[in-house]
Formats: sequence, structure tokens, C-alpha cells
Amino acid sequence: YTITVNPAATGATIPQSMYGVFFEDINYAADGGLYAELVRNRSFEFNSTDASGWNGLTGWTATGSATVTNDDQRLNERNRNYLSVTGAATLVNAGYNTGLAVKKNDKYDFSVWARGTASLQVTLQTVDGTALSTPLTIATKGDTWKKYTGALKATATSDVAHLKIKTDAAVRLDEVSLFPKNTYKNHGLRTDLAQKVADLDPGFVRFPGGCLVNTGSMYAYDAANNYPRARAYQWKDTVGPVETRATNKNFWGYNQTYGLGYYEYFQFSEDIGAMPLPVLPALVTGCGQNRATVDEALLQRHIQDALDLIEYANGPATSTWGKVRAAAGHPKPFNLTTVAVGNEENLPNEYWANFLRFESAIKAKYPNITVVSNSGPDDQGATFENLWAKNREHGSDMVDEHYYNSPAWFLQNNRRYDAYDRNGPKVFLGEYASLDNKLYNSLAEAAYMTGLERNADVVKMASYAPLLANIDNVQWKPDMIWFDNDESWGSTSYQVQKLFMNNVGDRVVPTTATGNVLQPKPITGAIGLSTWRTAATYDDVKVTRPDGTVIYGDDFDDGNADGWTSVTNRGNWTVSNGGYAQTTTDTEDTMVKAATISETDYDYTLKATKQS
Ligand code: AHR
Repeated sequence: YTITVNPAATGATIPQSMYGVFFEDINYAADGGLYAELVRNRSFEFNSTDASGWNGLTGWTATGSATVTNDDQRLNERNRNYLSVTGAATLVNAGYNTGLAVKKNDKYDFSVWARGTASLQVTLQTVDGTALSTPLTIATKGDTWKKYTGALKATATSDVAHLKIKTDAAVRLDEVSLFPKNTYKNHGLRTDLAQKVADLDPGFVRFPGGCLVNTGSMYAYDAANNYPRARAYQWKDTVGPVETRATNKNFWGYNQTYGLGYYEYFQFSEDIGAMPLPVLPALVTGCGQNRATVDEALLQRHIQDALDLIEYANGPATSTWGKVRAAAGHPKPFNLTTVAVGNEENLPNEYWANFLRFESAIKAKYPNITVVSNSGPDDQGATFENLWAKNREHGSDMVDEHYYNSPAWFLQNNRRYDAYDRNGPKVFLGEYASLDNKLYNSLAEAAYMTGLERNADVVKMASYAPLLANIDNVQWKPDMIWFDNDESWGSTSYQVQKLFMNNVGDRVVPTTATGNVLQPKPITGAIGLSTWRTAATYDDVKVTRPDGTVIYGDDFDDGNADGWTSVTNRGNWTVSNGGYAQTTTDTEDTMVKAATISETDYDYTLKATKQS
């Protein structure tokens, strides 16, 4: 096998910012992760909308008469619950993961909003009550809300510590917080995680999602409307003093405090020398929700939010939104150059209509801002083609593609971008990963990245996804960096990303290769077992390889053939002639009858078995 390098020939120039990171608050990446807050449910706002069984005392144990109260004595309209204690009581917070992680001799900043006159004794302790810190006494006074602060010093190292607050009298408490004194560049982020991201030397930070962005109710916080939860991500909810940021249900099944909000994302991007790249919802929910707004006023408001965001990031400190940024401590602009409108919005026509509205408003006011469009929910099939065609015809600046595929797919598709139109929209590969955290996956990603780089004139940016995963709270894997409450470690994909990001070339040096190249062999197996299932019968169906590995399975207990739909979305599979996605009725007979499944990873035949 011979590779011939032609140094004299001119290949594409490679942007130094080509490789970046995609941060989404999935897998507890923000609260309990990058955001260094140690107290879980600090403002007593958790509820059963966030996760089944949760309430205002989740994360807390109270001895004495402590109740979570929501009345007009509250701290503010956006922080509606508070803890009300009618006499002497003890409150213990268990933090995230196994407890709070504290290190001997390190200092911790405690703060609390309190109303009433009482003496608070604050300490770190073990589960059985042994002190792990110097004590802190805070005297609260008066019947108005005031913020009290103090510091604790850990006297021992522990990753199972609890925070104890003892009060000798009736008092109201809210926004109870404990931060390590030492955070990344003193900006409130957990040092080891922030450092791991910084060590990648990313060119950009895409945030805050992902499905997190384009799901939920589209309406903003509205006190008069009974404090709606599960509203779509809206950047204005995430700036200003933290005690005024209303917490919200996170699409991934927990609560988001928004302590890590737009200000912090911009600040972090600046701290690690990366370009900020916010993703705004285009008001066509995706990720399984598939709804588009028909509310013109709402759409207008979101378009205005997009313009306001640019002013927040770039406007002078005297402008309406620049003033909010300056008040948070950053009078200088954040130099926002690029915004993405939408994430995998599943209704292509509705998305496209909205995208055009956002884009024209942004370009009219800020012609130099790059506006990133979408290629659809996944780059398979008609939706993708449809949206790409529209983007091409329209001349969009850049199109965000996403795919999660097998290692074989990455190896086989190294030439994907060789054929892309050099004069069409540029590509932002905003999410991709080979579907496991094994070395082979990472090698396939590395091989694939050589194809991205070779096409650097078309592919301008690429980010592996997701970035972070808390080992005890995983909604999605593989992930690039894993952590618990006191440790973190990079996957092999992290090492690949780090290698590429720290060694971005200046330009492509064209090469040619000759010789026999081994390629995975495409195999097609038919599973036309029409007797598998009868209508209205929900059976287990599994597709296994001869070695017994289950490639695909669904028990159908929930009445959904959900996995069959995702089969069509996963790169190493194709389903034709009867895949569930193509049927309109729930007749499973139809679903599997004559289905043809191709898998291209393995050089052996597929076997399908009915399990029951
Ligand atoms: O990265 C995980 C999820 O994958 C993202 O939230 C979504 O955009 C994609 O489907």
C-alpha cells in the first residue's frame, strides 16, 4: 500500500477553530457537573414535573418542623418556594452523586437568603455526623429577605460529605449555596472538568443543546400563568442574579437551575479561548415532540430574543442588554460572531419557514453574524435531502449536520464530504460519535476526522457529542469526558479530540493512495418472517448476530415500536419495505413482513428471532 504526498500541491486551508466542543446539560453535565455548586436543590424548587417523586425537599433531610412553602412571602416571583422552619431544626443536604466532595484544607463559600431572626450553625459532616469542617455561625436578623455569606474550611477529605444547617429558631431560608473557593478562573466552574475541556484547546463551544433547546413548552416564564414548568430553553431565563433564575425541567429528566446560564457559557468560552456558538430554538420542537408554533406573536418574541442575545453579547455596556451583561461583571463584549437557529427540528417545512424569519431579522440588523441552519433530525432520508436542498438553493451560511453511527459507518464514509458542493453552504458537524466508548470507536472517529480535515474548505467546524457524563446519571452514551463528584477521566475519544484540536494543521497536503485497501463488506440479510407477530400482540423481537450479540431489540411493552423507528435513523442499518416508520397503523405483522435489513459492519449473516 503506497501513500504519495504532494507537498507542492495546494489543499484546503484548515481553520484553527475547526474542532470544538458541544456542551449540553445532559447526563448532569451542568448541575452536579461543570457548575461547581455543591448543594442539590438549593432553592427548594424541585418538583414532580422534573422527575417522578421529586419535591421541594429532594436532596434534603429535615429534622424538626421544616416545610417547603410557596406563598406571597417568597424571595421573588421567579424563585417561588422557600423553606419555612417554625422552630429549632436541622437541615442536611446530601449533594450530588454520593455526597459533597470536599478536600482537606480547601475553603468553601457558603451563602443563604434568610428571613427571620435566628442563629444558623453551618458545618460539613459525615453521614453519621462527624464534623468535616470548621463551624460557621451566621446570625440572621429581621423580617426581610437578606443574603448572608461565610466560609467553611474542610478539616478532612471526603467524597461523601453532607452539609448541615442547624437553626435555633423559626426562620425562612432560600437559595442555600456552597461553592469551592477555588473554581476555574474564579468563575464558578468545577476546576478539573473545566480544565479537561480547556486542555482540548477547542476552537468553539456550541451550547446549550441539543434536545435541551428545542423541546418543551414554547412559552416563557409567566408567573400569572401558574409558573409553567418544562418550558423551552430561553436564554433570558438564564441570566441575572442566580436567585432570580427560575429553575426548569430539563428535557433529560431532571431539574436545571440555570446557575450555568448564558453569561457563564460566554464567560467559559472566553476563558478557554473558544468562540461561543449559542443554539436558539426555532420554535419547532424536535426530539420526539414534533410541534410547530402557530402563534405569530410568540414567534416574533423569539426572533426579538435572538436580536437581544446579540446585543447582550456584543452591545455596548450602555445598551439595554449590554447593561445586563455589564452588571454581571463583563462590560466588554463577548464577540459573538455565529448563532445557530434550531436543533434537529423534526418538521422540515415548518422549521424552514421559521429559520428564514430568524435569519432575515438577524441579517437585517447584524449582517456580519453567521447564521447556522439545520439539516434535519438526522442526516438520513428525505428530511435531510429536503432541508439540504432548501439550504443550498437559499444559500445559507452554514448547515448543522448530526449523526451517531457505528465504527464501520465512519470508516466507510470517510469520503462523505469529498463530493459536497464547494460553493454551497459550509458544514458544521455539530454532533457526531461512533456509538460506543471503546478504542475501536475512537480510532474510527480519528480516521473519519482525517476526512473532515481533507475537506476543510467545506467542513468548517466539528464537535463530538455529548461532552460530559456524570457516571451516576447517564441519559446518553458514549460521552467524551466522564466524572463523579470528585474525579473525572477522558474516554479514548477525548484523547482523539485532544490530539486533533491541539494539532490543527495550516493546510491540507494532497495525497494519493494505491494498493489493496481492506474494506468492511456490506452484507444484506432478509428477515421476512411474516409470522413473527400478529396485530395487537406485543412480543419481544430481537435481531441477533450469530455470536449472540443483540443488535436490535424491542419488547413493545409500551405499545411503541420505538426502536424500529430508530433503526431507520442509525447509520449501520437500513430498513426497507415495511419498516414501522412507513406504516400508519399499529399492525406489527405489516411492520416486519418483508422487511429487509442490511448491516454493513460484519462479514456474516444476520439472524432474527422471535423471543416469545
Ligand atoms: O447529543 C445528544 C442528543 O443527540 C442531542 O441532544 C440531540 O441534538 C441529538 O439527538
